[in-house]
Amino acid sequence: MTFQHEAFDTQSLVPGFHEPVLPTGEPDAATIAASEARTRHWSGNDPQQRIKYGSDVHKQMMCRMFEETFNPYRPSVLKWPTLDEAALHRITSLPIWDIAVQTEGKARLRMAAYARTLLDPQMRNALAQNAWEENRHKEVLSKMVQHYNIPLVPEPPYEYPKDPEWAYLVTGYSECIDSFFAFGLFKVAHDSGLFPPELIDTFEPVMQEECRHILLFANWVAWHRANLGFIKRIAFEWKVFRVWCFLGLERMDLAKSLDAEGKEHAQDNNFTVNGAQSVTEKDLSVVELMEWCLRENDRRFAGYDQRLLRPTTMPFMVKCALPVLKFFERRKKAKK
Ligand SMILES: [Fe+2]
Ligand SMILES: [Fe+2]
Repeated sequence: MTFQHEAFDTQSLVPGFHEPVLPTGEPDAATIAASEARTRHWSGNDPQQRIKYGSDVHKQMMCRMFEETFNPYRPSVLKWPTLDEAALHRITSLPIWDIAVQTEGKARLRMAAYARTLLDPQMRNALAQNAWEENRHKEVLSKMVQHYNIPLVPEPPYEYPKDPEWAYLVTGYSECIDSFFAFGLFKVAHDSGLFPPELIDTFEPVMQEECRHILLFANWVAWHRANLGFIKRIAFEWKVFRVWCFLGLERMDLAKSLDAEGKEHAQDNNFTVNGAQSVTEKDLSVVELMEWCLRENDRRFAGYDQRLLRPTTMPFMVKCALPVLKFFERRKKAKK
């Protein structure tokens, strides 16, 4: 089964899911500020209560967090500032727009496909909501691409996954990797002064939404794991291992796509790792960028109930790599 890019509808894919009703009209500054605050902070009832991961209480907590931190912005009323020539060139020449649009396109379908396999209505609804939000990210990107006339290759039809659980795991872990680096890069771009603050503000809710997504994913993984019997658990861990291998191999290569004239374009699958020099004029070292990623990761998760699990693999790997990176940077400086 394939889907053309306009033909996506979470509600018809996932039984029982109802799209959120968004406010009409343009929100005022106070409404935007209140939504921003609500989306960043969430605590469950009874903060002293200990949570058993995999329990019903754990499930209620993650689903409530996801529902109550929803930010009701509408892509159609977002403001796109006028850019000077340099800023426009900087944005249109970033090699990420095709891959960004297509990643959201795949993510929404994979999440909806997995959501519809779930028997638990609360969890199914949370994952369907996540799919709906991915579709909204795609709409935000499409509006921006249209506004600034960024040329895109035609989107391929999106394939309905044969193994929805595999597809959901690939998307979830992929988001954990990309969001970790994107948090740092976004901060570097923000501080560089190269991009108008209004443009940064427009993407801020999308960035925080990715934080909520990977928070939900990390807790879903723990909940799902804890509810599997011994044999199914082994099969699941084997699948998770293969997903990480797949993502590692995928990231070792640059994705290639064809433009409208059939020429091959390099789309940077790893932009979130090596794209820092495109968003700042400062000579930023890898160590500095990784330190920003760690700080921003902590900051974005700080407002959520501490009992909810956070994604840990990327922060752990980067913390382990930092002493080595620092050693090589010191040696490089000493040789100069
Ligand atoms: Fe997204
Ligand atoms: Fe996401």
